[in-house]
Amino acid sequence: MKPYMFLLLLGIHKVVTVYHSLKYFYTASSGVSHFPEFVAVVLVDDIEILRYDSKITKATPKQDWVIRVEQDHPLFLQNSTESFRVAEEVYKKNIDIAKQRFNKTEGTHILQMMTGCEWDESDGITYGNLQFGYDGEDFIAFDLRTERWITSRPQAHSTRAKWDRDQEDRAYRKKYLTQTCVEWLRTYLMYGKSVLMRTGTGTLWTLS
Ligand SMILES: *[C@@H]1O[C@H](CO)[C@@H](O)[C@H](O)[C@H]1NC(C)=O
Ligand SMILES: *[C@@H]1O[C@H](CO)[C@@H](O)[C@H](O)[C@H]1NC(C)=O
Repeated sequence: MKPYMFLLLLGIHKVVTVYHSLKYFYTASSGVSHFPEFVAVVLVDDIEILRYDSKITKATPKQDWVIRVEQDHPLFLQNSTESFRVAEEVYKKNIDIAKQRFNKTEGTHILQMMTGCEWDESDGITYGNLQFGYDGEDFIAFDLRTERWITSRPQAHSTRAKWDRDQEDRAYRKKYLTQTCVEWLRTYLMYGKSVLMRTGTGTLWTLS
C-alpha cells in the first residue's frame, strides 16, 4: 500500500470513530506465589483508574481525577471497596468450584471475569460484554442480544442452567451493561477528560 493511501485510511478512521470504554477485570488465582489471590482493576479508555486487591483491601484511585469523583460522590470509594470485597469472597469460592469441575485442584489456576461497555460518541451506539475465562480459555459469557448465557464447555453447563433460570439476574445484567455502565463511563469521561486527552490515547477524543 502506498504511504498516502495509508494516511487517507487513517484519516477516515479518525473521523468516524470516537470511541470510549469502561472495563472491569477481576482475576482470582490459586497457586500463584507473590500474586494477590484476587485483583480487580477498572479501566477507562484502557487507562487504569481504580485498583483493588486482596492485599490492599481498598479501592485505590490510580488517576488524580478519580479523587475529584470521590469529592462529588462521597461514597464512591467506600462503595467500590465494599463491592470489591464481596467480589473477592465470591471469586475465591468460584475458583474452588472451577477447580473441582475440571477435576484438577493442584497447580496454578486463574479465573477471570471481564465486563464493561463501549460507547461510540459519534453515533451514540453502545456495546456491553460480560465473560468469564478459566485457565486462559473461555468459560461462560452473557449474550446481551438474547439475554442468555452461552458456553461451549461441559464444565460450565450447570452454571449456565442455573444463571439462565434467574430471570431477574439476567434483566439486571442487561440493565447494567446497557445503562448503568454507560452512565458511569460518561461520568468518568467528564472528570478525566483533560487527563485522558493529555496521555494521548490514539485517535480518541479527536471530535470532542
Ligand atoms: C453508595 O451506596 C449507597 C447505598 O447503596 C447509594 O445510595 C449511593 O448512591 C452510592 N454512591 C455511589 C457514589 O456509588
Ligand atoms: C479426577 O481425577 C482423578 C485423578 O486424576 C481420577 O482418578 C478421577 O477418576 C477423576 N474423576 C473424574 C470425575 O473425572
